Amino acid sequence: MRKHYTHEGLGEDQLAPDPIAQFTRWFHEADDSGVVEPNAMVLSTADAEGRPSARTVLLKGFDARGFVFYTNYGSQKGAELAANPHAALLFPWIALARQVIVQGRVEKVGRDETAAYFRTRPHGSQLGAWASEQSSPVDDREVLEQRYADLERRYPEGEGVPVPPFWGGYRVIPESIEFWQGRANRLHDRLRYLADPAAPTGWRVERLCP
Ligand SMILES: Cc1cc2nc3c(=O)[nH]c(=O)nc-3n(C[C@H](O)[C@H](O)[C@H](O)COP(=O)(O)O)c2cc1C
Repeated sequence: MRKHYTHEGLGEDQLAPDPIAQFTRWFHEADDSGVVEPNAMVLSTADAEGRPSARTVLLKGFDARGFVFYTNYGSQKGAELAANPHAALLFPWIALARQVIVQGRVEKVGRDETAAYFRTRPHGSQLGAWASEQSSPVDDREVLEQRYADLERRYPEGEGVPVPPFWGGYRVIPESIEFWQGRANRLHDRLRYLADPAAPTGWRVERLCP
């Protein structure tokens, strides 16, 4: 299963001055080239002892402040982020021989921002957020279906569903963002932006060996 990468490279001269602009460019290119769910990213966290865990989540917004996803604050990832508010995000855009890795500190997004996003979700997803004690063991699927049915009776379609207090967004505030482009002969391009208050753009760029 050895694949030869023949893609065009990523040079320092092509990079946008800041990594969010560069991310925007690659994100649109991933979307335009038919990557399935280009906003799916692997979120890695670690517990207080440094034991890592990973799972896929969906990117729901990004700007100069960081990268936002939504989840259950009581989940395993939520518990880990409460103990150790640092994370990595990995976008595996394999069809383009690209990956982007973001590392940074994590903060909860404000309740207003969470509520505004929650209101855009389909009714069923809103109820699903209430029905699931994410990452806790459950006896069987029936329990979940029953909880969902009870919620449907309480909040029929068209009725406003309150935002679960245990559910909301996190923002990963980037300290570094690496752009990886596969190239021939395993001489891949790896350009990493590092937050640097002394740099004119607030970022400096270094090239890493592949
Ligand atoms: C494509 C895809 C997208 C997902 N998006 C989310 C998401 O945005 N938020 C979320 O909480 N879980 C999402 N999940 C489920 C998570 O991968 C995971 O099972 C769940 O968050 C529990 O993780 P934890 O027990 O490590 O906290 C997604 C899974 C897949 C495969």
